[in-house]
Amino acid sequence: MMIMNNIKLAIACDHGGYELKKEILAFLDSEGVAYEDFGCDSTASVNYPAYAAKVCRAIQSGDCTRGILVCGTGIGMSMAANKHKGIRAACCSDTFSARMTRMHNDANVLCLGGRVIGAGLALDMVKLFVETEFEGGRHNARVAMLADIENEQ
Ligand code: RB5
Repeated sequence: MMIMNNIKLAIACDHGGYELKKEILAFLDSEGVAYEDFGCDSTASVNYPAYAAKVCRAIQSGDCTRGILVCGTGIGMSMAANKHKGIRAACCSDTFSARMTRMHNDANVLCLGGRVIGAGLALDMVKLFVETEFEGGRHNARVAMLADIENEQ
């Protein structure tokens, strides 16, 4: 498997995503992908916006290049992440979307639902999210329009 080595992932979860995050961390270890794990560290109840913020801040600061967030559905994490400037978070449950959101949206955070998808599918999506490059071209202007919306707020 070809995994880019110029990437460092920020990863976090809430209690609903903890079990799936463990599978993802083991996969990243086996593939030699660099990452920083921002918690949580058990299935005890926590608040997903706090964990989304840790990952988004690591990307905003440049410490990490992309992020992965896991909660029960992936939805709460994606809502929270997309409140952060410069973050383009995509909640995905299929490999086509995981690939296309890199190619067309230059997504920098992948959100997954630990109560929605199995580990096999999740790991395939993580692989695509890491390996797939942004296409640029006509998509540059559209991604720039997303930043314009942020700047209008
Ligand atoms: C936690 O019960 C659950 O609400 C959370 O993991 C997530 O699914 C929210 O969107």
